[in-house]
Amino acid sequence: MARNQFASKFGTLAAIAGSAVGLGNIWRFPYVAGNNGGAAFLIIYTVICLLISVPVMLSEFVIGRKGQSNTYRSFIKSSGHKGWGVVGAVEIFAGLAILAFYCVVAGWSLEYIFASAMGELRAVEGIELTDQIARMGIRFDDFVGKGGEPILGVWRPVAWTIIFLALNCIVLAFGVSKGIERCSKFMIPALFGILLILVIMSVRLDGFAAGAAFLLKPDWSAVTPQTIMDALGQSFFSLSLGMAAMTTYGSYIQKEQSLVGVSFTVVIATVLMAILAGLAIFPSTFTYGVEVSSGPGLVFKTLPALFASLPGGSWVGVFVSTLFFILLFFAAVTSSFSLLEAGTAYVTEEWTYKGKHMSRPVALTILFVIVGSLSVLCAMSQMEGSSLIIMENSLFDFLDKLTSNIILPLGGIAACIVVGWSMKKQVVINELTSEGQFNAKLVEFFYFFAKWVCPIVIFYMFIKGLL
Ligand code: PFF
Repeated sequence: MARNQFASKFGTLAAIAGSAVGLGNIWRFPYVAGNNGGAAFLIIYTVICLLISVPVMLSEFVIGRKGQSNTYRSFIKSSGHKGWGVVGAVEIFAGLAILAFYCVVAGWSLEYIFASAMGELRAVEGIELTDQIARMGIRFDDFVGKGGEPILGVWRPVAWTIIFLALNCIVLAFGVSKGIERCSKFMIPALFGILLILVIMSVRLDGFAAGAAFLLKPDWSAVTPQTIMDALGQSFFSLSLGMAAMTTYGSYIQKEQSLVGVSFTVVIATVLMAILAGLAIFPSTFTYGVEVSSGPGLVFKTLPALFASLPGGSWVGVFVSTLFFILLFFAAVTSSFSLLEAGTAYVTEEWTYKGKHMSRPVALTILFVIVGSLSVLCAMSQMEGSSLIIMENSLFDFLDKLTSNIILPLGGIAACIVVGWSMKKQVVINELTSEGQFNAKLVEFFYFFAKWVCPIVIFYMFIKGLL
């Protein structure tokens, strides 16, 4: 049977950019950039992406496209050593763990799409903004189960989590090009369009200049060694590295497509989307003098209150708020596809039942049960009085920290070592230039970085991060 492939060049870019552009870009990156020197951070971030993350991404693509298999098998085939399979397997399972907590947050975006569209988040007549923010805070805490008496019911976040995962499974059951690629080809341009609409709406606000300055004004004095560490961590998570996602997607990229071209486009698209997200969000916080923040607090508490206060009456608020949460959903779902696909490729290619390989629907059903159970536990670990605590963190936070701080960097180093040290140089160069079709000079440069610079730099940062 012919192996799955992306069908078109644009579809490949949309799927891979879809994996990269996610919740991290929308609620974390603009805030980190704003607090770490604005444009100064953006420049450092872009340089780090190009010098460190792009070589790692290229290494993952090479392993996947050369191996023509799931991440576990591709690591073995590309390196020629069975032992490397362990790294591939760990990445796949870590990816599924990320997926478990990602589904919880993505589920929240579904709740908020409906709550916005139904007008539930509208401001009460004559209410002060601070009171509206407090109201939204109470609503969110109640929804996720952190409030005292649950009004919305404890099963709501769990139900949305499961619905979100089920949607992923349905899309993936259609296959790589008919499911993932087709959806991404629609969702990524839509996401870009929504961001543009939101930015245009925020240009009209009084705080636009201040919001844009917070994000874009270069302040080199705010840059410290920690900034560089933050930039590297952010870029790894944001570009979906070390998580089997890019190795798996790499195995679906057509031989004629330039891997360097794909990685450049994806990095530029990811940074651009994050800047636009910042321009959509910050002007309203500055207009109303609310403290800038990040994460769930910003997205589910402050922003709904700010949307409700937008000039133009309540329908503008309803419109902007619904669009924003659709944006969040699109960003999340195109990222989760890549994590679930890494698992799906593994199960369909490696697990057999009565001597036969499993079909995608069967594999997805198995993954739905495994990841769904873990997701439900993650959603419940957020609730008040939950006993799902590991090393003083809720299960949700524990999985987040374990994967982001440990597995991601080690996975990135492993990919560089396989490409730089296990594989023959000519094989790597041939893969990167698509058998001589593309510029070999640039490729040599990235090869050098993947072999020498990236493993050392990432390892250094990894150790420093642990201490
Ligand atoms: N890149 C996604 C984000 O920034 O939200 C999250 C993610 C997706 C991380 C896929 C890792 C991954 F393999």
